[in-house]
Amino acid sequence: MDTVQHVFKGTFVHSTKRGDMEVLENHILATDMKGKILFLEDAQSQARLAQKWGFDDSKIEELGKNEFFMPGMVDTHIHAPQYSFIGTGMERPLLEWLQYTTFPTENIYSDVEVAKTLYNSVVRRTLKNGTTTACYFGTIHTDASIVLADIASQYGQRAFIGKVCMDTNDVYPKYVESTEESIKETTRFIEALKKKKYDRVKPIVTPRFAVSCSEKLLSDLGQLAEENQLHIQSHISESLAEIDEVLRLFPDYKNYTEVYGRNKLLTHKTVMAHGCYLSNEELLVFKEKGAALSHCPNSNISLCSGHLDVRNVLKHKVKLGLGTDIAGGYSISLLDSIRKAIETSKIIFMEKQKKQVEGNEIDTFQKMKIETNAINSNAKNEIVEKEASYKVLSINEAFWLATLGGSEALSIDHIVGNFQVNKEFDALRINLEALNSPFEVFSDISKEEMVQRFLFLGDDRNITAVYVAGRRVMPLPSNA
Ligand code: GUN
Ligand code: ZN
Repeated sequence: MDTVQHVFKGTFVHSTKRGDMEVLENHILATDMKGKILFLEDAQSQARLAQKWGFDDSKIEELGKNEFFMPGMVDTHIHAPQYSFIGTGMERPLLEWLQYTTFPTENIYSDVEVAKTLYNSVVRRTLKNGTTTACYFGTIHTDASIVLADIASQYGQRAFIGKVCMDTNDVYPKYVESTEESIKETTRFIEALKKKKYDRVKPIVTPRFAVSCSEKLLSDLGQLAEENQLHIQSHISESLAEIDEVLRLFPDYKNYTEVYGRNKLLTHKTVMAHGCYLSNEELLVFKEKGAALSHCPNSNISLCSGHLDVRNVLKHKVKLGLGTDIAGGYSISLLDSIRKAIETSKIIFMEKQKKQVEGNEIDTFQKMKIETNAINSNAKNEIVEKEASYKVLSINEAFWLATLGGSEALSIDHIVGNFQVNKEFDALRINLEALNSPFEVFSDISKEEMVQRFLFLGDDRNITAVYVAGRRVMPLPSNA
C-alpha cells in the first residue's frame, strides 16, 4: 500500500515562530495517506527521500516559477449567519447595528432551510478565499447550528461551531432565549456534535457577549465548558458604549475581563474578539489564563468601534489571531484582515507621532528618524531609539497572525499553522500568474517579494487549490 499521498516540489512559505516568515525555495514536501506532513526538505535530497518513502518521479507535482505553497489561513472570528447581509448596513455603531440589522437577520435562521442555503454559501466562499479553519458564531438556533457543522464537515473545512447563547435582549425581544433553554439547547448541541464524531468540526461554547447574558448564564456556560473541556468564544471591549453597558449591568465586577474571568470563561481554550480597550492589567489576566484575542480590524473600522494596539498585545505575550468578523467586517478574506491589521498599526503609530509633535516633544529631524525606525525594523539609530520603540506591524508578522498565530489562538497549533513535520497539511497553492490575476508580475522578483505582492494585491483568483488535512477541498469537482 502507498505510504505517500502527495509529493510537491517548489517554494514553501510559512512561519516557524512568532512574527517570522520563512521562504524555502526548491524544497520537496510529502503527505501521508492521512494528510500529515511526512517531510519538508531541500530538493537536493529527492533521490534519498524517494527511496526511503517509496515514490517515483511521476508522483511529484512540481510548482511553476511564480507559484508557492503557504499554510491555510485561520479565521478566528466569523459570524456565519451574517454573511447574508455582508457589505450592507455599515452606517451604524455596534449596539444600534446589532439592534436594527443583526438581530432581525439572525432571527430568520429559526428556519433550517434558510440555514442550509446561506451556510452552504459561506463555507464555500470562505474556503475559496483560503480559510481552511474557521471559528464560527451561528445563531441561537440549535438545529441551524448543527446544519452549519454538517456543511463545514461535508466541504472538508476545519471549524469550531458555536450555537449562540443570549438570555437578555431588551432592544429586540423576539430574538432571545431563557437561561434554562440556553443551557439545555447548548447541551443538546454539544451532544449532537459529539455523536457525529466529525474529525475536524467541533463545538465551541458561545455566550454572545456580556451585554446579552445574565450572570447565571455566563456562570453555567463556564461550568459546561469546563465539564466538557470545550473551547469558548465571545466578544470583549469592542466599543466604548458596549463597555459602559457592561459596567452598568455588572456593577460588582471591576472590569469587563473580570466578568468573563470570574465565570470560568477565560481559559487556554478561549478566544475573545476585539479587545480594543483592554487595559494592561486586563491583558496580563489574558496572558495568565492563556486566553487569546481575535483581531478584527475591518470590523473595528467599519463599525467605528476602535483600534486594537497589536504591538501592545504582542508585548504582553497574549495569544493573537486575525478575524474577519463578518458582517461587522465587510470582507470574507483574511488577506483583507492582514492588510487592515497593518494599516491599523500604522494609524496608531501616526496618532502617537502626531501627539508628540503637538506636544512639541520632537522636532522634524527626530520625526523623520522615528518614521524610519518604526517602519524599518533593521534601522538603528541610538538617539531616537527610545521614541521609536513603537514598531508598526510588519508583513511577516501579519502573515504569521493569519496562519500560525491563528492556530495558536485556537490552541490547535500542534495540528496546523505551518508545514512542520507531523502536522496536517492545510495549505494554499498560490499562483501569481493565475488566470485573471488582479495584478501583474513585471520582472524577476525575489520569492519574498512574490509573497508580499500576493498578500497585498492578491485575491481568490490567485488561490488555485486549497487543501485541508491533505484533501483538496477547492476547487470542488465540477458536479459538487
Ligand atoms: N457583539 C455582540 N454581538 C456581536 C456581533 O454579532 N458582531 C460584533 N462585531 N460584535 C458583537
Ligand atoms: Zn463578532
